[in-house]
Amino acid sequence: MKTLLDRLSAGEALTGQEWRALLGSRRAPGITQELFRRAVAVRQEHFGRAVYLRGLIEFTNCCKNDCYYCGIRRSNAAAQRYRLTEAEIFSCCQQGYALGYRTFVLQGGEDPLWTRERVCALVSQIKERWPDCAVTLSIGEWPRESYRAFARAGADRYLLRHETACAAHYRRLHPPELSLRRRMACLWDLKELGFQVGCGMMVGSPGQTEAELAEDLLFLQSFRPHMVGIGPFIPQHDTPFRDEPAGTLELTLFLLGLIRLMLPQVLLPATTALGSIHPRGRELGILAGANVCMPNLSPVAVREKYSLYDNKICTGDEAAECRHCLSARMAAIGYETVVSRGDYPNFQGRKKDE
Ligand code: 5AD
Ligand code: FES
Repeated sequence: MKTLLDRLSAGEALTGQEWRALLGSRRAPGITQELFRRAVAVRQEHFGRAVYLRGLIEFTNCCKNDCYYCGIRRSNAAAQRYRLTEAEIFSCCQQGYALGYRTFVLQGGEDPLWTRERVCALVSQIKERWPDCAVTLSIGEWPRESYRAFARAGADRYLLRHETACAAHYRRLHPPELSLRRRMACLWDLKELGFQVGCGMMVGSPGQTEAELAEDLLFLQSFRPHMVGIGPFIPQHDTPFRDEPAGTLELTLFLLGLIRLMLPQVLLPATTALGSIHPRGRELGILAGANVCMPNLSPVAVREKYSLYDNKICTGDEAAECRHCLSARMAAIGYETVVSRGDYPNFQGRKKDE
């Protein structure tokens, strides 16, 4: 008889109940090893031994939102706010280009001073100066027209984690002015506008159950994102969730394996949060099916201030140190960090007038 893993490997869609059963089976002997073996084989088939790199530029930690889990939420008076200037951002790109990065991820809080026009100008200047690089935006929820403007300015990809696909759980993690409906609407807009789109959830966020994670998997199965960012929830000491337990390495790795099998060509980072809960978290992520790493390109002077969660790694390390550290880490497990945009395989892109 076909097992659930067999069916997943064959590209079959699973029901919510089946996803739950799979998650529940993870402590059974041999299941995790079998999942990782399959996930690594699938990744090998599409990407070989390549690990794609993204240079992450955390360009503002000012945010108008108040998500309960996040260290840069507006109510956190202890956060030391900063904004990089355009010149500082270009200097990060220049350094990143020299280190072999061909994707820049511009990530920030929802900062009212970074207007649509200003973001567009930034993106188009980066694309002009580094035409062989992809630009990924990770700047939260905007009206569809703004997303369209970002696309016209040349942004290639967009990361917007859905955080949880369960409306009740979403409400537990966010203040009332934020809604899962709106989040999902943004994700569909981004997809229609021709971005390579990334969503994703925190693993082990307060109150999360396996049933909710099964909903996340169902959502990924229907949305079919190009990228999926998942990492463990990690408490931040100045947030309402300061005393909540962190998500586990084991569950995060298991989910990475499932996501690789469900979406064979997906761009799947071994995230900084994963590296922050275990000294070899990112390596273990790659060995569970991930194929992307996102080292930090932000100036060391501001690194500590982008503290979404506690004990974040690499806050004291120069970009060049992280670059070399990562290629050494990947080489040690038999993988190679490559100089490449690392697009979604066979991505069609968008038509000129879109
Ligand atoms: N722990 C782990 N991840 C977090 N994020 C925000 N706060 C935390 C936290 N305390 C994640 C969210 C967000 C991404 C940029 O960082 O998933 O989408
Ligand atoms: Fe930053 Fe290792 S990746 S020091």
